[in-house]
Amino acid sequence: MRILAIETSCDETAVAIIETEGKPPRARVRVLANVVSSQVKLHAKFGGVVPHLAKREHQRNLVPVLLRALRNAGVVSSKLKSQKSKPQPKTQNLETDKLTNLQTILEREPDLFARMVQGVLPMRAPKIDAIAITVGPGLAPALWVGVNFAKALAMLWKKPLIPINHLEGHIFANLLPQNWRSKNFQFPVSSFQFPALCLIVSGGHTELVLMRGFGKYRVLGETLDDAAGEAFDKVAKMLGLGFPGGPEIARLAGRGNARAFAFPRPMLASGSFDFSFSGLKTAVFYTLRGLGKLGVEQKRNIAASFQQAAVDVLVAKTVRAAREFRVKTVMIGGGVAANRELREQLGQSLKKALPAARYLTPDVPLTGDNALMIALAAAFGKKKTARDTSRVRADPSMRLGAVS
Ligand code: KG4
Ligand code: ZN
Repeated sequence: MRILAIETSCDETAVAIIETEGKPPRARVRVLANVVSSQVKLHAKFGGVVPHLAKREHQRNLVPVLLRALRNAGVVSSKLKSQKSKPQPKTQNLETDKLTNLQTILEREPDLFARMVQGVLPMRAPKIDAIAITVGPGLAPALWVGVNFAKALAMLWKKPLIPINHLEGHIFANLLPQNWRSKNFQFPVSSFQFPALCLIVSGGHTELVLMRGFGKYRVLGETLDDAAGEAFDKVAKMLGLGFPGGPEIARLAGRGNARAFAFPRPMLASGSFDFSFSGLKTAVFYTLRGLGKLGVEQKRNIAASFQQAAVDVLVAKTVRAAREFRVKTVMIGGGVAANRELREQLGQSLKKALPAARYLTPDVPLTGDNALMIALAAAFGKKKTARDTSRVRADPSMRLGAVS
């Protein structure tokens, strides 16, 4: 089974191609291509992701990213359809139909339409079995470009579509062992043991998800205000650091004293598995106002103390949920899962509290948005293949477990 996956839910334009054999725990997967084109530099100027600019960039980047992925994977049948022989009237009609359909599907993405006519229409269908596409949650204009692109490819190449929840993708990034890059060919995929728990922490989400089986999700708790990554980004802004702020905070924090400032640990003692980060962010704001102009040392200490407060809450709730539901696997996902303190401190706490549980962390380059995780979710999750692609829609506020 060969799956081509597309991800455009936020500011990353990504296409991946994988080849799989068997089912977990014996499944094997070969990563044929994993291309990510980031728009982060563009959005950094605005201090956050601007949805209509994200849409414009996805329209520009999708075709080149797709072509690069197909080339890397070596799955293109032949570069162009033969243009030597005079086209028969029947094939000519078919081509006209395709063009009309393409125009209809990409009615709202004229720039992408033009690029597809040039770069994709003359190509033969590649040797793939299905196209996986992120349908939500995410930014509506960004999601729709990807969804319409996937529908267009499905129509041109006569392939089924697999709609995927973006958060499920973050969970499935944990399936690949850390050394997946160093192996040239196939490798076994370590399977999740159920019940499993995943802490999803990104710029848009903070959720604790219990997984009782493939496709069986229960959201135990989520943020009531800011997402964890959003809090990192906002505090970074207050400190005059660039966007995205998470990596910048982590870098500064590495040289600071995490006990220098006693920031609050919001909802740490509450019985629920929900989170709240806006109070923590406000506490940092007032502390900064009181301090006036900051020295380097103070900046480092603020960053370290803020990071520790956020990590404390995330670790405590994850460990409590892991114990309460007696999970066999604990994992993390999303951009904030790149945070070394979070990864390490969660690992240490789990070792003490639940030594038998398996702790999986995704390879750092796979913590942020990518299409490889979408391909894995499509291959190993409980997916529904949509043969009638007209019914596939973007769902910006999609919940885990909701299969479109
Ligand atoms: O998953 P992701 O790439 O995109 C979303 O779906 O939001 O997550 C991006 C978020 C940003 O808020 C970024 O600041 C944060 O992940 N992030 C980090 C780190 N690396 C990225 N936060 C804390 N520590 C990091 N090392
Ligand atoms: Zn994400």
